[in-house]
Amino acid sequence: MVKERRTTIEKEARQLRIGVLGCGPIAQAAHFEACRKARNAELYAICDLAEDLVARMSAIHEPRVTYQDYGAMLADPQVEAVIVATADQFHVEHASRALAAGKHVLVEKPPGVTVEECEALREQVLASGLLVQVGTMKRFDPGIAFARQFIKEDMGQLLALKAWYCDSTYRYTVTDNLQPILVTSAHARRPADDPKANKRRYYLLGHGSHLVDTARFLGGEIARVQARLIEKFGAYCWFVATEFADGSVGHLDLTMAVRMDWHEGFQVYGEYGSVVGKTFNPWYLRSSEVECFSVRDGQYHRLLGADAHVYRLQLEGFADTILHGAPLRGASIEDGVAALRTLVAISRSVESGAWVSLADVTGGV
Ligand SMILES: NC(=O)c1ccc[n+]([C@@H]2O[C@H](COP(=O)([O-])OP(=O)(O)OC[C@H]3O[C@@H](n4cnc5c(N)ncnc54)[C@H](O)[C@@H]3O)[C@@H](O)[C@H]2O)c1
Repeated sequence: MVKERRTTIEKEARQLRIGVLGCGPIAQAAHFEACRKARNAELYAICDLAEDLVARMSAIHEPRVTYQDYGAMLADPQVEAVIVATADQFHVEHASRALAAGKHVLVEKPPGVTVEECEALREQVLASGLLVQVGTMKRFDPGIAFARQFIKEDMGQLLALKAWYCDSTYRYTVTDNLQPILVTSAHARRPADDPKANKRRYYLLGHGSHLVDTARFLGGEIARVQARLIEKFGAYCWFVATEFADGSVGHLDLTMAVRMDWHEGFQVYGEYGSVVGKTFNPWYLRSSEVECFSVRDGQYHRLLGADAHVYRLQLEGFADTILHGAPLRGASIEDGVAALRTLVAISRSVESGAWVSLADVTGGV
């Protein structure tokens, strides 16, 4: 009989009972483990239409119950919250059904693919009194959280922000080394149109959502953007001029992919200090290296961030908010809608070359 070797994982008495919808790559690489390692959550149920995936994941992660039918999982009164880990195109439908069944939701990013469906979800969330947190988990990167705290409490007014997210051509070399071996199923449900067929769309939704969320987390509301896109030798590079609601200027760089190592980070210039951050490929579960210089003491401030399991930390934050009323640390549905609006505005601006206000955009990227 095998026994789990426990080291630093301490489970609290009250654990939020989670049902994970989707047994695809992100659930396999992040969410199942996050539920099992979280101090205040339990991997109660898993669900996927693909029976073979459910059987395989159940053998590894041992949830209490398994489902193939999402409706049946939602009808289980023991399930308190759902992690929606399905394709972007299904997020609104799946989150909406969970809310209708009285469940809290941690939905993968982006919360949806059009402004209209995200706004409708936001309305439903507000009326429900339930929590929907969006899975832009970099907010739980200790270095990025430290930068945000410094910006809010010590930096004074913002002057300018630059942020970049440049995927690496060696991405899969690294993730294959770091992630568990992922399994796929011919029975998995995917959107009718292959989401990867349109690369601009796929990269903006999948990767741009992280870049934009980090920029908003550190710099505040973005009011309008002017974006350029260049495609060469199979690479895509968006350079985006941004204007924040407080008038500060910004520059975002989304490049898929740079011919070097993963390259992600930010620089923030403020009234009483500045912040410089380097972020690593998320699968290292390593804190961003962040230095916050304060003119008040003439020193650079730096955090270790030893615990940087961002997927587990985002789930613990989610559960703390639901179980104990702790302030929301993750991205709210408003943050998710604003991030999607920013991506749509970037897309429109690439088409027209003009500045595009987030308030004016409709449709999808
Ligand atoms: N936060 C991150 O770092 C990160 C990283 C990778 C992917 N993601 C996001 O995670 C999401 C999922 O990505 P993926 O690659 O795992 O997706 P995927 O489409 O490969 O897998 C989703 C699984 O959900 C199942 N499913 C879909 N509809 C269902 C239904 N109605 N009932 C039961 N099962 C259903 C499918 O059968 C499939 O197995 C995407 O939104 C993606 O953007 C986030």
